[in-house]
Amino acid sequence: MLWVKAFHIIFMTAWFAGLFYLPRLFVHHAMTEDAATIERFKIMERKLFFFVLPWAILTIAMGIWMLIDYAWQAYSHMGWMHAKLMLVVFLVVYYAYCGKLMLDFKHDRNRRSHVFYRWFNEVSVLLLAAIVILVTVKPF
Ligand code: HEM
Repeated sequence: MLWVKAFHIIFMTAWFAGLFYLPRLFVHHAMTEDAATIERFKIMERKLFFFVLPWAILTIAMGIWMLIDYAWQAYSHMGWMHAKLMLVVFLVVYYAYCGKLMLDFKHDRNRRSHVFYRWFNEVSVLLLAAIVILVTVKPF
């Protein structure tokens, strides 16, 4: 089972690489007016969004594998696991919203400033910190 946990953490790290970098691209995309640069950002954002999709799916698949195969009876009564899974739902919504924002930029519909995307970028950092603390410290 430790192999599954190891790959769970590896895939989660790859997923977060995209969740940290994609909003950063949005920050710079929202600040530029150069047509060639805007077209380049559109390509980079699309490629990055779909590059991390398999890692998101594999993170969740490995997690569910451990949940069911490892100790469902125990995990189902652990408050930290409930809180973790709720935050994972937020994370999936955050990733999906990045997809919506990517489409807004693709169709030149973005109306938000780079300041909004700087704050939006911090949300993934807070989610990572909260999930890792919950699953490592198991505070409740
Ligand atoms: C539906 C999604 C997920 C499920 C079902 C899940 C489930 C699990 C389970 C059952 C474990 C083993 C816990 C243990 O007994 O030590 C685990 C470990 C871990 N999970 Fe997840 N997980 C999910 C998503 C995530 C995400 C998105 C992150 C990213 C921050 C994450 C980070 C970790 C870490 C760092 C560990 C290792 C903890 C340790 O070794 O102490 N998981 N996960």
